[in-house]
Amino acid sequence: MNNHVYIITGVSGSGKTTIGQLLAAHLAYPFADADAFHPPENISKMSAGIPLTDADRAGWLLALNQYIRQQKNGLVLACSALKQSYRNQLAQGVAEDSLHWIHLYGEMDLVRRRMAERKGHFMPESLLVSQFDTWEKPDAGLLIPILQTPEEILRQIISTMALPTQWGLAGLGVMGLNLARNFARRGFALSLYNRHVSGTEEKVAEKAVNQYPELKEAQAFESLPDFVQSLARPRKILLMVNAGAAVDQVFEALIPLLEPGDVIMDGGNSHYEDTQRRQAEAAKHDLFFLGVGVSGGESGALNGPAIMCGGDAQAYAQVAAGLESIAAKDAGGQACAALIGPGGAGHFVKMAHNGIEYAEMQLLAEVYGVLRWDLGYTPDEVAEILTQWAENGLQSYLLEITIAILQRREGSDWLLDKISDKAAHKGTGSWASIAASELGAPLTMMTEALFARFVAALRDHRQVMAAAYTAPQHKVTLDKDDLKQAYQLARWVNHQQGFQFIQMAAKQYQWQVNLSELARIWTNGCIIRSELMQLAQEYLSDSPDLLLHPDLKNTVTALWPSLQRTVSALSFSSRAYPCLMSALAALNGSVTAHSAAHLIQAQRDYFGAHLYERVDDPSGKKYHTHWE
Ligand code: 6PG
Repeated sequence: MNNHVYIITGVSGSGKTTIGQLLAAHLAYPFADADAFHPPENISKMSAGIPLTDADRAGWLLALNQYIRQQKNGLVLACSALKQSYRNQLAQGVAEDSLHWIHLYGEMDLVRRRMAERKGHFMPESLLVSQFDTWEKPDAGLLIPILQTPEEILRQIISTMALPTQWGLAGLGVMGLNLARNFARRGFALSLYNRHVSGTEEKVAEKAVNQYPELKEAQAFESLPDFVQSLARPRKILLMVNAGAAVDQVFEALIPLLEPGDVIMDGGNSHYEDTQRRQAEAAKHDLFFLGVGVSGGESGALNGPAIMCGGDAQAYAQVAAGLESIAAKDAGGQACAALIGPGGAGHFVKMAHNGIEYAEMQLLAEVYGVLRWDLGYTPDEVAEILTQWAENGLQSYLLEITIAILQRREGSDWLLDKISDKAAHKGTGSWASIAASELGAPLTMMTEALFARFVAALRDHRQVMAAAYTAPQHKVTLDKDDLKQAYQLARWVNHQQGFQFIQMAAKQYQWQVNLSELARIWTNGCIIRSELMQLAQEYLSDSPDLLLHPDLKNTVTALWPSLQRTVSALSFSSRAYPCLMSALAALNGSVTAHSAAHLIQAQRDYFGAHLYERVDDPSGKKYHTHWE
């Protein structure tokens, strides 16, 4: 497969250079434009609008034929080759099975419009009529109408000629399948792999190809070696299998099948330390392994997720065009995808994203709980209140889905009331809390949110406790505008903690993460996209310490009394509001210049001789007191 010649033909303006360059890049072949082989007298003639004769073209065709025959590493040539006799001359002495013709054709009006848009080419539009007159319909090769995007044409060439495909996706669960459909809709030629498990996972890839029209040109596999063989090199393989052992299984099976320079991407919610371990293993085989955080759930995967990559910059450069093409776009049209940093940076920030997501969800659950049970509004009324909030600066994806959930009926009942409150989780929130503990990052809100899920999960115990106790009953008096402002401020504290967490990890691992760029990626596609995130992007570009930005300082100062009043009022509720309360504690704690923690230090020194520093000795010297 390494000394084939692909000749893309068509009249001037048919797009053969663009398609030829795309095909050459895909096959990693050299590209040549036949126009560059014209002698100066032909160029002058054409520039003057005089059509070339067969005699004018004879020397040019000879030179091209010689050039084709000299190539040893394959070639993609863009050449008008209007007549069959010209094509015969180009093919002279070239092995028939290594020569492939791709003919682009389209209506003259379409080509004329395209030529009118083209700048800096010697061929005047007036020659077009003569080109169309000269053109003879080819009797061999692939005939492709040009009324498609260049990417679609390339995909058609790849699939019709059974050329190696551009991207491989392994694992066709909901996320993998939707990402595959997203890639296909953007014109990528795909190979799809799903394992075979008798009775449960049979012909999964083939069924996907048959079920979804956009996948009809994709190649389907149940054999990993065949899947790998079908891909153009360097191979780009996106794994969409469950985090943990399944990733290791596929990764280990792939290693012996791959060749140096191939790129494996793990698009699942893997732990960043697992990613780093796999990267080190991949490097031993001269392979690349990228940890790819993908956010946006099922619909994000299909229509445009946010993508956070971690790993080698050279590997990212190979896959950037594909990932950025399928990603969501920010308000300025830029892709919500980027290389966040080396190593496990991509999966780390995805984990932090999920931690922020946990606290954002818990805050909404608390707001709903206050409005419904402490203040007595119905779910429909809560939805109305939240809609007003969304229209007044608090728009976010999570708020939007909360409103839709509150409005959903099942018959005459609210569906929400039929859903058990036994909250579940898949692990990323726990990992975030553990990583925060290891880094010494005060991630109080997302940890409270995680623990609130644990409390919720102990449903049976809660019911026993509820039967055993009655909490003191008080009426909660709270203005809902105060609640709105408290919620707004709590979200800022949550985001401050999340970005600080990432900054501390970046320092520890020397990742150099650009926080404003990360916030930009999170402005669309992901679960925590919101108006607040757009402001965070702006603020973080001036101040990596979010709450120290002067504009946000004014906002925080204005909202603070509402958070105090809210927490104060909620202390009389019989329900738990850990995230709202934690937000106030975190804010108060972070602005306390002289805290009570000096007592902690004294206690530690008292019982364990753990030493302490003194405020009147800035040298950092450690002291011990004989307390007894
Ligand atoms: C996303 C989500 C996604 C998933 C969470 C759910 O960004 O698209 O975060 O990754 O929904 O992992 O996590 P829990 O099951 O732990 O709530």
